[in-house]
Parts: sequence; C-alpha cells; structure tokens
Amino acid sequence: MYDSIRIAPSILSADFMAMGEDIKMIERGGADFVHVDVMDGHFVPNLTLGVPFVKQAAKVASIPLDVHLMISNPLVQLPWFIEAGSDIITVHYEAFDSDEDVFTAIAMIKDAGIKACVSVKPDTPVEALFPFLPQLDMVLIMSVYPGFSGQSYIEGTEDRIAAVVAKGRELGCDFLVEVDGGISAKTVERVAAAGADTFVMGSACFGAVDPAQAMADVRRLGTEAAAAHREA
Ligand code: DX5
Ligand code: ZN
Repeated sequence: MYDSIRIAPSILSADFMAMGEDIKMIERGGADFVHVDVMDGHFVPNLTLGVPFVKQAAKVASIPLDVHLMISNPLVQLPWFIEAGSDIITVHYEAFDSDEDVFTAIAMIKDAGIKACVSVKPDTPVEALFPFLPQLDMVLIMSVYPGFSGQSYIEGTEDRIAAVVAKGRELGCDFLVEVDGGISAKTVERVAAAGADTFVMGSACFGAVDPAQAMADVRRLGTEAAAAHREA
C-alpha cells in the first residue's frame, strides 16, 4: 500500500538449464524477491515447479523466495513448502472450500515464521479477500489468468487494486500489494498509482536484453507514479 517498490522477477521465464545463474543475475540486477510460480496442472492447466525446486533455490538465493502456489491442495502441500525454505507463501482463495480453510492456511504459514499472502484470480471479486486482510503480510492481485507467463495485462485490474488498498486502509492494515501478470514499463504506472508496491516481472525481465535495466525502469516508473498519487 504505497510502500517502497519491490521487484519480484518470476523465474518461470528464466533459463531452466541455468536457474542458479539466473537467480544470481537478478540479485545483482537489484531484484527484491525471487518469485516462484508453482503450478500443478490441475488448479491451472500448466505444470511447472514444486517443492524440490524451492529446496534447491533456497540454497542459492540470498533474497527472499516469494512462492506463488497455484495448486488445488494447498493444505496438503503447505508443510512441504514451509519446510523447503519459502520466505513468503501465496495461496489462492479459489483453492479452498471455505473461508475457515483459508484462515487455517494463513495460520500454518505464519506459525512457521513465514510471510502469508492470499491471491485472487481476475474473475474472483476482490471482496473475497477482505476477511483475511488483518492477518496478511501481502495480497496478490492477479492481472492475468494464472497459468502462463507472457500474457497481456488485463485492463481494469488497477480498480481492483485500489479497492483492496482502500479496504486495507480503512481496517488499519499494513500489507504489501503485489501484482502479477503482464507487468512492464508500459503497465507499471497505473498499478503503482492504484497502490500496488510489489511487481512480478516474468517476460519483461528475463526477455529483456538488459534485465537489470528493465527492473530499474519498472522501479523508477512505479516509484514516480506512487509519489505522484500521494501528492495528488
Ligand atoms: C502467471 C504467473 C506469473 C507469470 C508472470 O500465472 O503467476 O508470475 O510468470 O509472467 P509475465 O510477467 O510474463 O506476465
Ligand atoms: Zn506468479
């Protein structure tokens, strides 16, 4: 919520044959988090990375691992991702049968000393997040339908961000607001102006000729847009 900008490159767009080197490369380039997209081929159509990857990445990374769980059975797998060395864990609201189960997942994460985040897909009303806001360290607003990198930002996501930020302020909460999907120098300003402060960059980082420059550009544009909004 208008906190200092954090950049979270998604290693889904990295070179899978050189993951360790790519993690070091984004760290040198100024990344704040390593965003790890875990997809199970069920909650989303795609299948990507899992617990063994997080275990290995935790040994290599010196910045926090931001683990985005797009899986159908988070209550089963959470202990494994906690044990593997995640620093931030995001679960999807849509993966649970009840609000009570979401609260259980948040408690499991926080009791392990890990930062807890809940996400909603683009077609889930953001109001679904409201009961959990006081417990959360971060919320993740998806700006594409989860499943694949390289998709286009869904216009209007900024209104959903603004709604969550307004509710968070009303409740006196203090959480990071992460946005994921199609974020680049072209789209960052509108989401930063709405109050997002943590930007996942997949293709816009690893697909760039100079990833460090791409991250720096997004950080600068996001910082300026947030500042302009604060002054307005
Ligand atoms: C989508 C993933 C994203 C994705 C971002 O389901 O959660 O993190 O990798 O990739 P870009 O930035 O290319 O949209
Ligand atoms: Zn993600």
